[in-house]
Amino acid sequence: MNSVQSQGTALVTGASSGIGAIYAERLAARGFDLLLVARDQERLEAAATRLRAEHRVQVEVLKADLTQKDEVLKLEQRLRSDSSISLLLNNAGVAADGLLANADMDQLERLIQLNVTTVTRLASAAAASFAKAGRGTIINIGSVVALFPERFNATYSASKAYVLSLTQSLNAELEGTGVKVQAVLPGVTRTEIWERSGIDATQIPADMVMEADDMVDAALSGLDQGELITIPSLPDAADWDAFIAARHVLAPNLSKSKAAARYT
Ligand SMILES: NC(=O)c1ccc[n+]([C@@H]2O[C@H](COP(=O)([O-])OP(=O)(O)OC[C@H]3O[C@@H](n4cnc5c(N)ncnc54)[C@H](OP(=O)(O)O)[C@@H]3O)[C@@H](O)[C@H]2O)c1
Repeated sequence: MNSVQSQGTALVTGASSGIGAIYAERLAARGFDLLLVARDQERLEAAATRLRAEHRVQVEVLKADLTQKDEVLKLEQRLRSDSSISLLLNNAGVAADGLLANADMDQLERLIQLNVTTVTRLASAAAASFAKAGRGTIINIGSVVALFPERFNATYSASKAYVLSLTQSLNAELEGTGVKVQAVLPGVTRTEIWERSGIDATQIPADMVMEADDMVDAALSGLDQGELITIPSLPDAADWDAFIAARHVLAPNLSKSKAAARYT
């Protein structure tokens, strides 16, 4: 028996560390059973044992390398066929350092596979399954670098701009289906991602770095408030609304039969 009424199962990718591990804990506390996915099975098993004991929810561990198409397809199939899954947290991701001109293209291809292709495949499967059920939640972890690509690695920033755009389109597509969609855009958050991608995070000013548990709690508060886009550190939500409003000013002129006067 669960301590809290079950909310269904939350599928969390990248649940073995950082943001995903905190989400797993918070979702268990909210009464979700869990399907935890990452490559490090030992860490996932350790988390599962702790979460079962602390929250009395069911926790399944699935070891998968989400840069490998056959492993992604299996997970996608699970999402399409398992009607107990009610939340997808598309969180697994990697960063990169350095200039595009000097990049290791195989590394960047794996980044795109994980941050873009896998996110898309899983979001598609969840959208189909959740819309059919008339309920469910899709959370995609983006990044604020989607809004400031000049300040970070090109491919990573572009992958997160993709996540933002995908989420906005998907939300429009799912309107009226009962499925909730959210993109979370964290700023710098203290996790292993920096070390893993060879970036020295000690150079980043302390007042720019958020603890992962504070980031996740803010993101879940944004979800509870019905936000489509959550930027955990942004003090004034009106600033984001103004950014979106500026887009709507452009909208009527983005596709016309004639070129603008300055081009003719
Ligand atoms: N930390 C930040 O400053 C920050 C800011 C903005 C956005 N984000 C985003 O937040 C998300 C989580 O990152 P994090 O900061 O929590 O980093 P993290 O601690 O490095 O966690 C990344 C997670 O992704 C998993 N993962 C990596 N490669 C994988 C693969 N090939 N297949 C399956 N799982 C894989 C890792 O597990 P295994 O190694 O066990 O596979 C780990 O659980 C990412 O999408 C990241 O881009 C982070």
